[in-house]
Amino acid sequence: MQNILSSLGPVTAVIGAQWGDEGKGKVVDMLAERYDIIARACGGANAGHTIVVGAQKHVFHLLPSGCLHPGKTVVLGSGMVIHLPTLLEEIQTLKQARIDIVDRLWIAANAHILLDAHKAVDARQEEQRAQATGEGIGTTKRGIGPAYMEKTGRTGLRMESLLLPEKSLQEALHTQLRHIEELYGIQTDANMEEQNLREARSLLGKRISHDAPAHLAANMSQGKSVLIEGAQGVLLDIDHGTYPYVTSSATTIAGALQGLGIAPQKLTSCIGVAKAYCTRVGAGTFATEADEECQNRLRERGGEYGATTGRPRRCGWLHLPDLNKGAILNGFTHWNITKLDVLDKEESIPVGVGMQDDGTVQWKQMPGWCESTAGITLFEDLPTNAQSYVRFIEEQTGVPAAFIGTGPKREEMITRA
Ligand code: IMP
Repeated sequence: MQNILSSLGPVTAVIGAQWGDEGKGKVVDMLAERYDIIARACGGANAGHTIVVGAQKHVFHLLPSGCLHPGKTVVLGSGMVIHLPTLLEEIQTLKQARIDIVDRLWIAANAHILLDAHKAVDARQEEQRAQATGEGIGTTKRGIGPAYMEKTGRTGLRMESLLLPEKSLQEALHTQLRHIEELYGIQTDANMEEQNLREARSLLGKRISHDAPAHLAANMSQGKSVLIEGAQGVLLDIDHGTYPYVTSSATTIAGALQGLGIAPQKLTSCIGVAKAYCTRVGAGTFATEADEECQNRLRERGGEYGATTGRPRRCGWLHLPDLNKGAILNGFTHWNITKLDVLDKEESIPVGVGMQDDGTVQWKQMPGWCESTAGITLFEDLPTNAQSYVRFIEEQTGVPAAFIGTGPKREEMITRA
């Protein structure tokens, strides 16, 4: 185990290989203690990971899950869209558990501010799409699409604007709200938005990094290591995902490096995270979606309900062409296959291995193992069929499965040398 962890090198990324919710948090948690800086690059409060603070479980959306590790620097990168009240609430939750994160947080000045108005636009657009086509994208309604539209439309407010004199900040906010009202015909609440910006400025003003890439580069050249915590998953990528049923950011390693301003050759390893089966929330294609009975079984065994929205996740089987696509796009150096134990009771496990000419999935039935793998920490202790299942994924993708999750607890993980 020591070998694999030290062989990852000083700049490691953890990237979801499916439609998000692959269970990236656990490997991040395991790795975080070995890295100096934990960074989130893109996306916003559409992400969701459950963090246990004290005796209570909380779902965090903006802070990376590695932030709980004492003394680590936490970075929110330029590619993010940040809803400030959510960030303040997460900081406050940690504070109540005596974890003070403010002094070790840097937020890129170029990250965009996501306003409540963006959330209202997101909800309105979902309604309109549903009326027009019978179904929306199934967004998280966290304002992500509209905030990125402002960004690429070059009308957005960035974190640096919090440092403007009061009057200029007000003007910038009012200009943006007017623009949103005119474009989308929604009512905005300038007083509430102003208040949110003021509160964020007073707590976080000093935590805004004017040149986050240079700041990171300087730290890296002093020997500091970086763990990049990817958000969402490859199949939700705006360019390479199942468009239009995608999120509005680049969820691949390229997007993460761009979002943080880290040069590609600095990356030393990239861990792709995939469930041993597959889930998706929201609408859109899902070639290996299971029949209703299997979906219900996988959902109950795997606790497959969205962390951000609580929606039941659609469940299905592994689709190797998707994993290969993830490997191509990201150059995965290792897999973390999560939740292997959820398959423990399956007699036979279908795996999508390709597409037939008629557009239907070509299946391979893998024999199940019908034995508990819960909590196993050594690969050799897995039932033979479970070992074969993992080896099949490795052979088909050319990527070694270095980490295999066998249960929800931190220690329930196989780490292979
Ligand atoms: P948005 O990112 O809220 O605009 O949602 C677009 C699509 O991405 C929807 O299908 C969401 O359910 C999905 N999505 C966004 N973030 C996540 C995530 O962190 N996990 C899983 N699905 C997500």
